[in-house]
Amino acid sequence: MDLKLFIEERKQLVDDFIQTYFTQKPVRPEALNKSIVYSLEAGGKRIRPLLCMAAYEIFGGRPQDVAGFATSLEFIHTYSLIHDDLPAMDNDDLRRGKPTNHKVFGEGMAILAGDALLTEAFSLIADPAINQLQLKSSSILKFVREISIASGAHGMVGGQAQDLLSEDAEPDENTLSFIHHHKTAALITVSVRAGGILAMCDEQAMIRLTKYGNNLGLAFQVTDDILDVEGTTEQMGKPRGSDEKMNKMTYPKLYGLDESRRKARELIDDAVEAISVFDSKADPLREIARYLLSRKS
Ligand code: IPE
Ligand code: IPE
Ligand code: MG
Ligand code: MG
Ligand code: MG
Repeated sequence: MDLKLFIEERKQLVDDFIQTYFTQKPVRPEALNKSIVYSLEAGGKRIRPLLCMAAYEIFGGRPQDVAGFATSLEFIHTYSLIHDDLPAMDNDDLRRGKPTNHKVFGEGMAILAGDALLTEAFSLIADPAINQLQLKSSSILKFVREISIASGAHGMVGGQAQDLLSEDAEPDENTLSFIHHHKTAALITVSVRAGGILAMCDEQAMIRLTKYGNNLGLAFQVTDDILDVEGTTEQMGKPRGSDEKMNKMTYPKLYGLDESRRKARELIDDAVEAISVFDSKADPLREIARYLLSRKS
């Protein structure tokens, strides 16, 4: 299969959806509109919507039918990046190759753009206009519940809180695992599960998807930590060395680079193994896992 084409086509669906969304529903004041659109359209790999679509497609569906649901994950992710970069958090100046949101629009507007994107995600999920599959309200409720748990206090926000509390602390396995599973793997896992929910897959398939998502999600953050040490600012579009600057608890800090690379590889192998029962329609998920391990951005 042609992974590059697979990714490009789905990324285009998400980019198109984003482009029309705030044009059709402009926000007042205009400064808020600009701040939201600035970060959403700054680029980004669109990994979470891509995973949602790819998981959905295992069961025979078409990606364009779930583009709205998948894009809601990008709204939540983009909000998390805007807030993550704030001076009160990681205090970074560059994101997706451009000055961070607060650098352009000020801290107040950046906080509000994040708030708006998080809330808008749920408005989008509940919008009958995107429900091309005629999903029942009970399925949409399940979608909302899972995504809110994964991104809220029991998921990403909890992980981000522990990440902040652990700056300057001596790294330990348990805390580090908690941070990475919550701040990153939770949203990635639920993105994969979301595809299964939309396809109304059975419980056995959902267990497989969850295991894939968990392993991939953790590997994703381990790789992010490694890139923070040995990547380039230019390729990543965000500052290298941000973790060292803030004295973050990371995989390279606790285990060193070699062992971190080994762990990331092992996690990716486990992710691929978890979905071995699926046929060739799961090849994109298999290849996305490999690609995320070797990524430079
Ligand atoms: C960055 O996520 C934040 C982490 C959870 C590591 P991505 O690497 O997916 O960022 P974009 O969306 O491509 O900018
Ligand atoms: C961020 O982790 C996780 C989020 C929930 C946004 P990082 O702080 O390592 O992400 P980057 O490196 O700034 O993208
Ligand atoms: Mg951070
Ligand atoms: Mg950061
Ligand atoms: Mg990072």
